[in-house]
Amino acid sequence: MFTIGVLASGKGSNLQAIIDQIKTGFLNVKIGVVISDNPQAYALEIARSEKIPAEYIEPGKHKTFLDPNQEKKYVQCLKEHHVELVCLAGFMRVIKKEFFNAYQGRIINIHPSLLPAFRGLEAWKQAIDYGVKFTGCTVHFVEEDIDTGPIVLQAVVPVLSDDSPESLHKRIQEKEHIIYPLAIKLISENNVVVEGRRVMIYED
Ligand code: GRF
Repeated sequence: MFTIGVLASGKGSNLQAIIDQIKTGFLNVKIGVVISDNPQAYALEIARSEKIPAEYIEPGKHKTFLDPNQEKKYVQCLKEHHVELVCLAGFMRVIKKEFFNAYQGRIINIHPSLLPAFRGLEAWKQAIDYGVKFTGCTVHFVEEDIDTGPIVLQAVVPVLSDDSPESLHKRIQEKEHIIYPLAIKLISENNVVVEGRRVMIYED
């Protein structure tokens, strides 16, 4: 069966959404392993309670990326679990060389804005501060530059006058939980073709 690996640093609601869609039968994939750079990540608990292999792997001394030696261990772990597609779900580190050598074109991420707007951290807050009326979320392939890779799917979320960063983020996440499993389904069923920056989707 097509096997994915999930990398998460935090609460793991996207991981939960993927698990839920596997259980409904919508997604016909196996989660080979969940890896975190944060031993306290609730995502690890979710995985353990679902009997999915869950690993904390030390990130090393840097704050924003993994030490190359540690990054090698992440890749090794993914390989040991036969992972074909790496799904970043709130993983708070920039992916570097070791990952691209092993999984070029097979790493995806979910970002809480309509890219290319509002790359980087707290994109929902950036959207409120900028004053846009619509924002949303994006599933994209991961490239070396942050939040720039070819876009697989997007969903739009209106910004309401009484939105706080929290209320907006919550509504964005509801859409994330729909489009991330859908993107994984499309890729796992071979219905996604990347041509330069464009991602073509062919549905049966
Ligand atoms: C999501 O908002 C995602 O867009 C961003 O990190 C957050 C992860 O949330 N990349 P969760 O841990 O899946 O709940």
